[in-house]
Amino acid sequence: MTPFDLKNKTILVTGASSGIGRQVAISANKMGANIIATGRDEERLKETIDLLTGEDSQYIVADLLEQNDINQLVEKIPSLDGVVHCAGIVRPYPVKFISTDVLHQIFDINYEAQVLLMSQITRKKKLNKKASIVFSSSIAADHPYKGGALYAGSKAALEAFSKVIALEFSHMEIRSNCIASAMVKTPMFETAETQGTKERMDEHIKKYPLGVGYPEDVANTAIYLLSNASKWMTGQTITLDGGFLLGDF
Ligand SMILES: NC(=O)c1ccc[n+]([C@@H]2O[C@H](COP(=O)([O-])OP(=O)(O)OC[C@H]3O[C@@H](n4cnc5c(N)ncnc54)[C@H](OP(=O)(O)O)[C@@H]3O)[C@@H](O)[C@H]2O)c1
Repeated sequence: MTPFDLKNKTILVTGASSGIGRQVAISANKMGANIIATGRDEERLKETIDLLTGEDSQYIVADLLEQNDINQLVEKIPSLDGVVHCAGIVRPYPVKFISTDVLHQIFDINYEAQVLLMSQITRKKKLNKKASIVFSSSIAADHPYKGGALYAGSKAALEAFSKVIALEFSHMEIRSNCIASAMVKTPMFETAETQGTKERMDEHIKKYPLGVGYPEDVANTAIYLLSNASKWMTGQTITLDGGFLLGDF
């Protein structure tokens, strides 16, 4: 047994139907965890579960924009040793195009849904002692980009929320941390590619000394944060950027 072991831990993974969330489910399961995979797309959730071993993982379909779905999800889940929040969207909105609608579009799933989910999980006492919470932030929270006011803002808000969880639940040795990734190759990456121009994206990618990231890179960091190996780490954000923020390359 290593300190990174997740044996007998039950981990809820949101956004488990795609990209980083799916990989977190697979990698955490390989380290011994039972996974509760949630997302909206049932077919893709089933695909995730089919990639796991053991009998105790399951999926629960839930639209995290619906309070009823959040309530039912929390009703159905057993006590948790960890939550990895991977549900989220990215859309570029230059400041002059921001309206109440688009503000809600981004913040409702990237921030509010995760706050309401944590509120419900803690109110219903579904976190075991020493549980670990992991949020998916982005380097954009500290290093924003043009058009990223709402996305960057939602991630900065999430980082602040994570710190409050770290404070409010430390008496149960529950920890809360964020992973702030730069560009990771997932379906979200492909969306970003079609939203900007392909050429702009190719130029951006050249600025990564170690190249862009893969879902495994984020999932391995999530394993560290979920495991006993990180038992003294809370209220922090780990940056994963392949050297992008080091500067000129
Ligand atoms: N990829 C990157 O470059 C990158 C970089 C930094 C941070 N991140 C963050 O990492 C997280 C995962 O990103 P990703 O690249 O893996 O994205 P992705 O492949 O597009 O997956 C997004 C996930 O969010 C779920 N989701 C979206 N709206 C939802 C809703 N209303 N209710 C429930 N689930 C919902 C989707 O579920 P369904 O498909 O089932 O609807 C999907 O599983 C996001 O928070 C993202 O901001 C990504």
